[in-house]
Amino acid sequence: MSKQFDVIVIGAGPGGYIAAIRAAQLGFSVACIDEWKNAAGGPAPGGTCTNVGCIPSKALLQSSEHFEHANKHFAEHGISATNVSMDVGKMLARKDTVIKQNNDGILYLLKKNKVAFFHGRGSFVKAADAAYEIKVTGAAEETLTGKHIIVATGSSARALPGVPFDEVNVLSNDGALRVGAVPKKLGLIGSGVIGLEMGSVWRRLGAEVTVLEALPTFLGAVDEQIAKEAKKAFDKQGLKIELGVKVGEIKSSKKGVSLQYADAKGEAKELLVDKLIVSIGRVPNTTGLNAEAVGLALDERGAIVVDGECKTSLPNVWAVGDVVRGPMLAHKAEEEGVAVAERIAGQHGHVNFNTIPWVIYTSPEIAWVGQTEQQLKATGRAYKAGTFPFLANGRARALGDTTGMVKMLADAVTDEILGVHIVGPMASELIAECVVAMEFRASSEDLARICHAHPSLSEATKEAALAVDKRTLNF
Ligand code: FAD
Ligand code: NAI
Repeated sequence: MSKQFDVIVIGAGPGGYIAAIRAAQLGFSVACIDEWKNAAGGPAPGGTCTNVGCIPSKALLQSSEHFEHANKHFAEHGISATNVSMDVGKMLARKDTVIKQNNDGILYLLKKNKVAFFHGRGSFVKAADAAYEIKVTGAAEETLTGKHIIVATGSSARALPGVPFDEVNVLSNDGALRVGAVPKKLGLIGSGVIGLEMGSVWRRLGAEVTVLEALPTFLGAVDEQIAKEAKKAFDKQGLKIELGVKVGEIKSSKKGVSLQYADAKGEAKELLVDKLIVSIGRVPNTTGLNAEAVGLALDERGAIVVDGECKTSLPNVWAVGDVVRGPMLAHKAEEEGVAVAERIAGQHGHVNFNTIPWVIYTSPEIAWVGQTEQQLKATGRAYKAGTFPFLANGRARALGDTTGMVKMLADAVTDEILGVHIVGPMASELIAECVVAMEFRASSEDLARICHAHPSLSEATKEAALAVDKRTLNF
């Protein structure tokens, strides 16, 4: 006899475990299945985000930033720190502790909300009596039946054709977070989010880092002015980024990795590195689902086809997060998970794709919400722009971190904020205010008239809003 549930969630990443909790809060009986194993073979819910993504990368970014501060910036404050060294093993162990705290936290939350957790792979068996049979393969073989299925199986790193990840020399995001000693030379393919974050970690620790990017423009999705400012900062730090390259043959040996490529001018070049991180995007995880058994439609990339409400091609089967269209971000997955649980309960779950913030956790951080200046130009929308540099912000000066700016774009007629773009200190936190403002369809004047604490970095946001009307007070 199979165990019966109102809702079965496959995957316990940020999309899945949050959907499971919200569904349980709404009174449903809920099962959540996840196959991720920790080093001891036990359950490690939290998905890519917790185990090999958001959380561990931010732990290493923090450790490496402390190291860089101790080496390069303490002296300005009168603090002498000589012979500063980095114990990479300890740094990685700390990161693993942070991961475990999150895994345990999620197991606790599932239990607290009475979600039945199953450790193993979930796959479709068949549709039966307005429900679906799901097989769990893993520590225990189980068959579950659910009226509603939420697929939240996430994504995996995309490999270059013919160059599989060996996680020794050729690394995915997983191996990139486990490098046991600082490589002398590190290569990265792709100057996207992972390339910049991981490149920053290992550069700060002393690696000579080269990033090879196929596109001729740096961070094409980012506002051009902001991307330019960020590139200047990365160049100054010594992060070598080559744009417009065509990667050719890659050979991995005991000595390291050799990589042939053509540079932007078409000249043949060779890069020899100790380790190579390939960060060229991610592919949806659908192979283990046995989607064919029930006729679940996938697109040509292998992503589950969904409509605007995360409904799949099958009745009462939903899909959220990286396994469907849209940005591959943890908070987008979470919002979809909540919205789907609420829709199952007959409520009006909603995700506003126009106000999903993006953050790149480099130094300076890059964060944005809404439209870029180039997007507004392309659509012919009349807009006003205001910028304010951190150089003119008292808190940034006190912090000793004055790189970058806040840039606000507002409709030329209504003054509604259309986008905010930040490069600079704590951009990841500053962007939240702008998301709230845009959700409430605030005008730049609304933000400009709100009292902001002094001295704070957030005053730069207020000043950027004032700049839209050409009336900054501190610049
Ligand atoms: P996932 O987190 O991938 O979770 C899916 C889960 O389903 C996994 O545990 C998987 O094992 C499990 N699973 C798959 N198939 C099955 C099956 N058949 N049966 C059972 N279980 C299955 N996003 C941010 O917003 N901020 C960041 O700072 C950030 N940093 C990142 C850094 C790196 C290095 C990487 C790689 C990604 C980062 N991301 C970040 C992206 C973020 O991790 C993903 O967008 C997010 O994890 C997607 O959540 P998800 O629930 O859709 O899938
Ligand atoms: P990405 O899409 O951010 O960047 C990939 C880059 O690789 C692009 O610039 C692309 O032009 C380039 N590229 C593709 N093929 C190439 C080739 N053959 N040669 C050279 N360059 C090539 O993907 P990335 O960095 O792998 O990250 C995957 C996703 O994970 C991100 O898009 C994001 O959704 C998520 N993520 C989010 C983070 C955050 O929110 N802070 C941090 C890390 C990842």
